[in-house]
Amino acid sequence: MDRITKDKLVSDYKKIFFNKFKTYPDIISIAPGRVNIIGEHTDYNFGLAIPTAINKWIITMISDRNDNQFNIHSVNYDKMISFSFNDLTKSDELWEKYIKSTIYIVNKKYKLNNGFDMLIGGNIPIGFGMSSSAALEVSIVSAILDKYCDKYDQYEILKICNVVEKEILGIQSGILDQYASIFSKNKKFLLIDFNSNTHEYFDSNIKNCSWVLVNSMISRDLVSSDYNIRVLECNEGLDLINKLKNEKTSFNKLSLDDIELVKKNKKLYCRLLHFYYENKRVRSMKKEISNGNKYNVGQLLLESHFSLSKRYEVSCREIDTIISMSKKHPGFYGGRIMGGGFGGCTINLVENNLKKDFISYIKNEFYKKFEYNIKVEEVFFSEGLDVLTDL
Ligand code: GLA
Repeated sequence: MDRITKDKLVSDYKKIFFNKFKTYPDIISIAPGRVNIIGEHTDYNFGLAIPTAINKWIITMISDRNDNQFNIHSVNYDKMISFSFNDLTKSDELWEKYIKSTIYIVNKKYKLNNGFDMLIGGNIPIGFGMSSSAALEVSIVSAILDKYCDKYDQYEILKICNVVEKEILGIQSGILDQYASIFSKNKKFLLIDFNSNTHEYFDSNIKNCSWVLVNSMISRDLVSSDYNIRVLECNEGLDLINKLKNEKTSFNKLSLDDIELVKKNKKLYCRLLHFYYENKRVRSMKKEISNGNKYNVGQLLLESHFSLSKRYEVSCREIDTIISMSKKHPGFYGGRIMGGGFGGCTINLVENNLKKDFISYIKNEFYKKFEYNIKVEEVFFSEGLDVLTDL
């Protein structure tokens, strides 16, 4: 696994920054990717989730300019783009669009006085459900706000990122990824309530186990997936219930009796059932992780996977096969598809002394069936957003 440390990444990027811009950065913002233990497709309906940040990051470095020019160097694409305020809405490639849109939205609200030199790079795999784009937004927004705005809080970063996603990129997403990137604490699990936008931390008492990511290598991007359709279907289901009950209820107040009202529409019924039970699983998961009951944690993960695959229909053949294969391994307690879905990774709880064997078993079995190599690695948790100003 790519175990480069945060400090090493920062020091490597500082050197690249100097090579490209012949000056040192004034500010460095480091935003991690995340895994989501449970609570999938609940955030945009004001539900619950338990994500946590991982030891892979997107880093933004900025140094001030005294003109209206923006020079942005992407380490990952090894490319420099230069533009002025007038060009913030024109972009040729998706990564460029993310960067310009984010600067555009911050500028719209905070009216920047000048441009800057900026370096962006990181080691979060792109398009596999570990939130590389959310981390990119968080690192850019926090770097600019920290450098140019006197007062802001972390919820402001969340708000700006969500505007970028919804208004510019056209993804009706929730704030799970950005929330985890900002608020995670190392070695803690984060339980977020998206109805109140509040969170709590809790400890894991699971012993002798690791969290392992199995990457199907099926890349997905939310814009072109059915993600937005799922958001619409849930709203349609809620509207129908409100109409039939002739009153206005909200997602977080839905009861099973309410959901039964839309039973005739199988699709909407299944979408809402997923939401209802997934939130219940989040609460149970907190209890089971805190109590260290790895068997029950595994069962909750598998129930969540079944629901995401059959009721919410956001899985795919490769991922369902990975879960079926994993179930046959003695070291596997449970796992599920993670993130937006339609590909990406499964997150799995695996017994430590069988971990190595599990990893090679899954790789081999998968290759036998699909004839391409997948990546399987243990995941390590990390601290949330870090902004360095004392450089
Ligand atoms: C993506 C979105 C999140 C969330 C998850 C599904 O990662 O960006 O907001 O909806 O999918 O839980």
